[in-house]
Amino acid sequence: MPSCQKKLNRFRIEKMLKNKDPQVYSLIKEEEKRQREVLEMIPSENYASAEVLEALGTVLNNKYSEGYPKKRYYQGNAVVDEVELLAQERAKKLFGVPYVNVQALSGSAMNLAVYVALLEPLKGKIMGLSLASGGHLTHGQPQSASGKFFESVLFTINKDGQFDYGKIEKLAVKEKPDIIVCGFTAYPQVIDFKKFSEIADKVGAYLMADISHIAGLVVSGVHPSPVPFAHIITTTTHKTLRGPRGALIMVTQKGLKKDPDLGKKIDTAIIPGLQGGPHDNQTAAIAVALKEAATPAFKAYGFQIVKNSRALAKELKKFDFDLVSGGSENHLILIDLRNKNVNGAIAALALEVAGIVTNKNGVPNDSMPPFYPSGLRIGTAAITTRGFREKDMAKIAGWMNEAVEEAKKYELPKDKEERKAYWKDFRKNIYKNKKLLSIAREVKALTKRFPI
Ligand SMILES: Cc1ncc(COP(=O)(O)O)c(C=O)c1O
Repeated sequence: MPSCQKKLNRFRIEKMLKNKDPQVYSLIKEEEKRQREVLEMIPSENYASAEVLEALGTVLNNKYSEGYPKKRYYQGNAVVDEVELLAQERAKKLFGVPYVNVQALSGSAMNLAVYVALLEPLKGKIMGLSLASGGHLTHGQPQSASGKFFESVLFTINKDGQFDYGKIEKLAVKEKPDIIVCGFTAYPQVIDFKKFSEIADKVGAYLMADISHIAGLVVSGVHPSPVPFAHIITTTTHKTLRGPRGALIMVTQKGLKKDPDLGKKIDTAIIPGLQGGPHDNQTAAIAVALKEAATPAFKAYGFQIVKNSRALAKELKKFDFDLVSGGSENHLILIDLRNKNVNGAIAALALEVAGIVTNKNGVPNDSMPPFYPSGLRIGTAAITTRGFREKDMAKIAGWMNEAVEEAKKYELPKDKEERKAYWKDFRKNIYKNKKLLSIAREVKALTKRFPI
């Protein structure tokens, strides 16, 4: 099958649904159209392959298989055992680790499972990157179970938007955490896993690398791997790794040396600790994605993501966009919009109307609340899957600039009470903005050249 035709099949859904449930069918078709006609620039999103989606929509969905291969609490799992073992083997080989659990239903459950496996409730201490500095909720933020049911202490990035390893070390020595989490949801630079491991070793903590955002870059070799340095590695499977929604929890040789029972503890934390039956269709789709990620084409894809992100950062700077940390060395860019006098929420919605889908995000030292943060987070993983290259980034940066300039016309009130009414009105009117709609038409015309 020619590759372009194969790409078009990525969104194939059966005619049966069209006849039996036209409402759901038409909503799916609408979403398919949206995904085709916009620039998907949310750094945690991607376009999974037709094969990954095919594995998701199979009879494996129908099975219950609590437990682990060959040790299930339900009968009829001979085939599912093979599926799970295959996913495990592929993950171990791809990442180079001796142990993996493929059952966590998604990223938040995966991180919680590690804490449940290793920490005493209310006493065990997690040290992670603060949300405002680009950390994830599950890295010990007080709003999440990771911060509510365990002690937590958070570190921040320095004023240049980079990790300050000296400061992190001092905090670790003072706080003596049981687990140090190195990972992020909005950090545009490379992580020095060796430095983190020296800090963790110094205080006797487990080093957990949450590589959810960069897993695809790590297996491509464009980002250093945490395998020689971390004890535990967690990752979602749906971001740069381009698989189904799901997660992997891995233990390294270093981890098994520190605690030979680490794998068993994690398995027990997943079930009976946190979950019931795994989603076997998801496990099969993870196996498919891992096979894809082991190909030379995927390696080239990982490198291209970073080339595109660097190129886009360079183009954005030409329009005086202030980039946290000064640029991008991975797949994402964090834009601080304060110099543009436009709020992140306003800009994100204006960009969406212009056909460029991003997400509003906090920036370091942000005085605005999470619903109206001062920044934007963008990434190149999904557009690179469509075939966008460095030369296309100037066009995207130009449109982003035009949309943000247009968004300056909408000024979010300083008064918190007035904001709600303003926002309601803004949401109603922005969809009629002629300038933004004309950018959206240009975006749509361009996306036709990059079929998905
Ligand atoms: C670093 C990191 N860890 C964990 C998660 C949680 O993943 P999920 O949304 O699948 O629960 C995310 C999701 O954005 C993430 O960025």
